[in-house]
Amino acid sequence: MNASDHEKPLIDIHRATIWRGSTCVFRDFSLSIGQHEQVAILGPNGAGKTTLLKLVNREIYPVAADGSWVRILGRENWNVWDLRSHIGLVSQDLQNRYRDKTRGLQVVVSGYLSSVGVHGLLARRVSKDQIKKARAALTDLGVGELADTPLANMSTGQQRRCLLARALVHDPQTLILDEPTSGLDLAASFDYLARVRDLVSAGISIVLVTHAVHEIPPAIRRVILLRDGRIVADGSRETVLTRDNLQAAFNVEMRVRELDGYYFAYPDERGSLQET
Ligand SMILES: Nc1ncnc2c1ncn2[C@@H]1O[C@H](COP(=O)(O)OP(=O)(O)O)[C@@H](O)[C@H]1O
Ligand SMILES: [Mg+2]
Repeated sequence: MNASDHEKPLIDIHRATIWRGSTCVFRDFSLSIGQHEQVAILGPNGAGKTTLLKLVNREIYPVAADGSWVRILGRENWNVWDLRSHIGLVSQDLQNRYRDKTRGLQVVVSGYLSSVGVHGLLARRVSKDQIKKARAALTDLGVGELADTPLANMSTGQQRRCLLARALVHDPQTLILDEPTSGLDLAASFDYLARVRDLVSAGISIVLVTHAVHEIPPAIRRVILLRDGRIVADGSRETVLTRDNLQAAFNVEMRVRELDGYYFAYPDERGSLQET
């Protein structure tokens, strides 16, 4: 990248329309995220969060139309390899694509190939240095001893860390995490969130995608609230994570509390108590 590229937004979506099969998920949708923002995209199931990520990751494309664009770091066209070195993605969707027999180190090394498996000839394209770096990435994330362990024999949390290591071998400036703690117990979630915090401290930008309000770490300043392919609210966490906004996005009555920089939503049972 040259100097001017640093000014370009990470994601610049302008008046895009996006279909998945016969569903129009986004119509005339616009969103811009800067390169050094720490952002959460929050919304209920089906809001379009994963679709948005697939758009950024070049797995799906918008309807071509005049005055409509999707630019990543100022460019509309990317090859997947170049893109991976700028943006790392970790998702359950990606995790599901691996076979149970794939071993920890193979998962990480597959990141160099932008593929899921490492088989036969492909494996020879990976250099010794790359393998060394892949091992180091596993060790950094506390799963160095799982290099030769098949995914089937790991906990979901350990699998997720292998995928995070896979994204990190490219030294991306930005990490996109799609529902990173789904399926993890409290210890594994907290561990994962602590690693996210460390990455933020290390200068990596995070785009966290989640349906869970309490999983947005305080370090994430901007929250984009999504429902049915539309932005319900977008701004600082304090202005967006209000009861009114969350009720509108999730379509349910709730109460909201802030505690030590985290936000919690819980059922509003006062209404039903009064009725009895
Ligand atoms: N492969 C697909 N084919 C058709 N519709 C899809 C497909 N994937 C997702 N959708 C639809 O797109 C909408 C948004 O889904 P998604 O982006 O996965 O939401 P989220 O990640 O916020 O839960 C939903 O209405 C969903 O049913
Ligand atoms: Mg999703």
